[in-house]
This record gives sequence, structure tokens and C-alpha cells, in this order.
Amino acid sequence: MDSKALFFLAILSLSLVSLTPAFAQDEETDAKPAGLVMNFYKDSCPQAEDIITEQVKLLYKRHKNTAFSWLRNIFHDCAVQSCDASLLLDSTRRSLSEKETDRSFGLRNFRYLDTIKEAVERECPGVVSCADILVLSGRDGIVALGGPYIPLKTGRRDGRKSRAEILEQYLPDHNESMSVVLERFASIGIDTPGVVALLGAHSVGRTHCVKLVHRLYPEVDPAFNPNHVEHMLHKCPDSIPDPKAVQYVRNDRGTPMILDNNYYRNILDNKGLLIVDHQLATDKRTKPYVKKMAKSQDYFFKEFGRAITILSENNPLTGTQGEIRQQCSVANKHH
Ligand code: HEM
Ligand SMILES: *[C@@H]1O[C@H](CO)[C@@H](O)[C@H](O)[C@H]1NC(C)=O
Repeated sequence: MDSKALFFLAILSLSLVSLTPAFAQDEETDAKPAGLVMNFYKDSCPQAEDIITEQVKLLYKRHKNTAFSWLRNIFHDCAVQSCDASLLLDSTRRSLSEKETDRSFGLRNFRYLDTIKEAVERECPGVVSCADILVLSGRDGIVALGGPYIPLKTGRRDGRKSRAEILEQYLPDHNESMSVVLERFASIGIDTPGVVALLGAHSVGRTHCVKLVHRLYPEVDPAFNPNHVEHMLHKCPDSIPDPKAVQYVRNDRGTPMILDNNYYRNILDNKGLLIVDHQLATDKRTKPYVKKMAKSQDYFFKEFGRAITILSENNPLTGTQGEIRQQCSVANKHH
């Protein structure tokens, strides 16, 4: 072999070595389409989204407050590291359920999510994740409550672990400072108007007296509108609420069943129930957006749609990660 041929061989083998890993990588990414897409189930279960929408309508007709839960679930699942339906897992001998932590207080109606999952499973067993059902029921619940239709992507897969032990690092408490609230949401890409819009979810549903009595006893928080205090004292007559009596105040007395911008008028009127609600209307970073949303329902809906979209896409499991849970409250058994 002459030196020219040797040189040629050397170049060839070098380029083969450097090309091989590139080929392998390409193949891997081709085989594993990552990320969320619109209508992920269009081939694997074309009826999936229609079944969910129909179930939401049926269940909402019978149990109006189940829509509050579907909406709240998006926050409690997606804001804690990942939209992976970890929120739905029951406690096991080894791990505590997220549902049983203090931050999850008042979450309800999980059985109706099981009803939706069962209807989807009857049509396409083992195809549609609980994480997607959680998010899509939230999307359709928002519509049932009079809110906007927000197109949302699918393709999330289900996690296998409860995140109860780290949940408090992600979900702010009812009395958290606005700086902490803004910081927590900023870390998942939600800006200040987005946070203001998301808290507009407190335009529906209720708050139990246990989360309110510290603003009423031993003395009434002077920040409260005196016209609202009488009603609150009537609803929460004891400084230590009887744990067996279900005592609560509606978040928005005016239109308690409708997702609208009345929340912003309430909080500007010092009728916000939680300390975070009140601070939203007084903090100089958030107040301008509160005023704008109080004036314009369109602006509120636009920002709400944008923020729900970002929240619903927070760090999902996709492709071959996680699993498709058979039953939303338990991880699948490994065979
Ligand atoms: C700083 C953030 C937030 C805090 C501290 C917070 C806290 C709370 C608390 C303490 C309750 C009352 C629970 C009860 O007594 O039953 C509640 C209710 C509710 N929250 Fe939030 N929340 C926050 C953000 C959100 C977000 C982002 C959403 C949805 C996008 C949301 C949706 C709801 C709904 C719909 C209810 C009424 C639930 C029902 O009536 O069953 N919250 N929240
Ligand atoms: C917030 O309220 C909880 C009780 O729900 C209390 O333990 C905690 O100390 C309060 N935090 C602040 C910052 O006031």
C-alpha cells in the first residue's frame, strides 16, 4: 500500500468513527417523538377527547362543584414539578398521597375523574394517560364554568411516585408573601400578569373556615371590608371551627358558580378571602393587572388562557417515560 492509500484509509476510518454516534443519535430521536402535541390520540384513540368532553358535561350537570375541582387539579398537579397525575395517587404503605397534605386541603371529587377514566378505558384500554385526562377535564371544566375554551396539547404520561414530601416547596400557602408567590410561578415560566390571571380561579368555589379564622379571631383583620366581615363571622362563628361541621365561605358571593372577572372587583373592594388574594390587589407589582382584569373580562380570559397553557405544559413525562396508568389512583403493578 502506498502512502496515499494509507492516508485515504485513515481519513475513512476517522470519519466512520465520528459518524457512527451521530447516526445512532438520530435514530434514537426518530424513534422517540418527545413533547406534547395537539390531539396526540388522533390515531391511537380518536374518540378520546370527545369522550372526556361528554363525560365532563354529564358529570357537571349532576355535580356542579366538580368543575371547581377539575380546574384546581391543574394547579395542584402541574405546579408540583410535573403534570404527571402524581396528585391522584392514593397513599400506600410506603408513601403519603399528595392529596393528604395540608396544602391539598379541600380538594374533592376525585371519584368523578375515575368515572371519566373508566369511560375512556372502555373505548381504548391502556392508551390515554390520567395526566391528560386531568388536564383536559380542567379545560372542559373551565368552559362549563363560563370561562374561555383553551386549546391544550396532549401526550403526557403518568408518573409512578407521589411528590408529597416536596410539595410545599412548590405550592404557596394561603398566607404566603407575594414575592414568594411570584417567584414560585416565575420558576415555571409564568409571569406577573399570568399569576394575576390564574388566581382569578378563586372566582369560583369555596374556602373553609379553618383557612380563614386567623383573619377573624382574636380580632378581625382591619384590611377586610367591614361590609364583608359580618357575613364571614356568620359563616365562621367559631375561632376553632368544628372539624365535623363543613363550614365555609364562598370565594365570590356575587357569581359563585361562574369563572368571571368579578374576583378582581371583589379583591379591590377588600373582600379577598385569603391573604394571597388580598395581597394581589394591594401589592404594587400585581395591582395594575388586577385593575385591568377587573375592567376587562377579555383581558382576563386572554391572560388566563396563556397561563393555563404554560402551567399545563410544565415538565411533562412524554415518549417512553412514565406509564399509562390503568387506574388513576394507583401506579401500575410491574409484572
Ligand atoms: C398562591 C396560589 C394559591 C393559593 C395559596 C391557593 C389556596 C387555596 C385555598 C386555601 C383554597 C380553599 C380550599 C378549601 O378551603 O376548600 C383554594 C380554593 C380553590 N383554588 Fe386556590 N390557591 C392558589 C392558586 C390557585 C390556582 C392557580 C388555581 C387554578 C388555576 C386555584 C383554584 C382554586 C379553586 C377552583 C378553588 C375552589 C375549590 C373548591 O371549591 O372545591 N387556586 N385555593
Ligand atoms: C401561615 O398560616 C399557617 C397556618 O395555616 C401558620 O402555621 C404559618 O405560620 C403562617 N405563616 C405566616 C408567614 O404567617
